[in-house]
Amino acid sequence: MNYVDNFRLQFGKKQLVPIIIGGMGVDISTAELALEAARLGGIGHISDAMVPSVSDRRFHTHFVKEKLKLYKLNVANTDKSSVQFDLGRLAEATQNHVGRTMEAKRGEGLIFVNCMEKLTMNAPRETLRVRLTAALDAGIDGITLSAGLHLGSFALIEDHPRFRDAKLGIIVSSLRALQLFLRKSARLNRLPDYVVVEGPLAGGHLGFGMDWKDYDLQTITTEVRQHLLAEQLDIPLIPAGGIFTGSDAVSFLENGAAAVQVATRFTVVKECGLPENVQQEYFKASEDEIEVNTISPTGYPMRMLKSSPAIGAGTHPNCEALGYLLDGSGNCAYATAYNREVLAHPTAKRVAVMDKTCLCTHMRNFDCWTCGHYTYRLKDTTRRLPDGSYQILSAEHVFRDYQFSVDQKIALPSA
Ligand SMILES: Cc1cc2nc3c(=O)[nH]c(=O)nc-3n(C[C@H](O)[C@H](O)[C@H](O)COP(=O)(O)O)c2cc1C
Repeated sequence: MNYVDNFRLQFGKKQLVPIIIGGMGVDISTAELALEAARLGGIGHISDAMVPSVSDRRFHTHFVKEKLKLYKLNVANTDKSSVQFDLGRLAEATQNHVGRTMEAKRGEGLIFVNCMEKLTMNAPRETLRVRLTAALDAGIDGITLSAGLHLGSFALIEDHPRFRDAKLGIIVSSLRALQLFLRKSARLNRLPDYVVVEGPLAGGHLGFGMDWKDYDLQTITTEVRQHLLAEQLDIPLIPAGGIFTGSDAVSFLENGAAAVQVATRFTVVKECGLPENVQQEYFKASEDEIEVNTISPTGYPMRMLKSSPAIGAGTHPNCEALGYLLDGSGNCAYATAYNREVLAHPTAKRVAVMDKTCLCTHMRNFDCWTCGHYTYRLKDTTRRLPDGSYQILSAEHVFRDYQFSVDQKIALPSA
């Protein structure tokens, strides 16, 4: 019977275990988690989402405080167009996070950075160029471009000396999105080195509308595979979203996938950035406690636990300190919704904003509990402890379970 370890992901001369731990911002897929994947011979992702905040927390820098100090006088102003990121500081923060992760890398695997292009940071092109360039400068093995995929992203770094040596991949949720990207990047004579096809059961933002239930990963993967074959494009294809067991992974690998990208099962390991009390919420969740909603100001539907503190919070927008979702004109759908509620309730001390959330604040504080569809199955992957809580796993345990399990079995950790 086949198991994942019978397959290898071939990247140039490198042969890797075909398991990729997907990026989970903001620092949910930590350096520690990515380093374990690399040590075990697979691929791990860190994320560059809100990287100045991550650098402050990890390396005691003061990027967020400095930015707030600079724009403090603007806090009460509804016009946020003047709130800009210092590009030098942004590069420094990226280099801290990526550089230190790469220095700590051991083993044969690779470490990639997940780059969410929807973090437009009040200057989409300039900030994205800096994020990509700084990650390459700091020695990242590869970059996965995700949510909000910009067709011109490769062109932003075409002059970088590592443009052709670093692995560059994209996440798409449809054949059409892939075709558009390929058409655009063909002009640079630089195809993506891998394509992650993310289906509707994934965690984080979804590349589908609220009709996500009408789609399934297997169908989209097959369409993309047939297209790549027909066009004779030898690009490794990596399905993601709802691949919960080693056997699930094998069925994709047997059908031509080069690797699988997984994340949800790693949200409850000790190397993951979620605080343990939040991890217990993930374990406890039942299927009807997980929803896909439209509260993310990015405009993409997002899957999360209904009990997330971020839902309906009415937080004052934090754009002067954070501001990662401000578009090129200084607008954020949350700030707009917040201002609307304040106008409607002029005497209220606090307003509730139900239709959008301050994603920057709540992702930073681990209060937006985004998760994959199968989060409700996590309780079956561990043991219940005498106090009623669930045993936190190790990344190695989950990785090896994907690598060696057969017959839809899930190995429980030793007590
Ligand atoms: C908690 C969580 C956060 C995520 N954050 C991101 C993100 O910041 N960027 C991204 O491209 N994908 C994100 N994802 C998607 C994963 O990288 C991955 O592709 C997907 O969740 C795989 O499906 P699975 O969770 O069912 O295994 C996130 C997933 C989870 C569970």
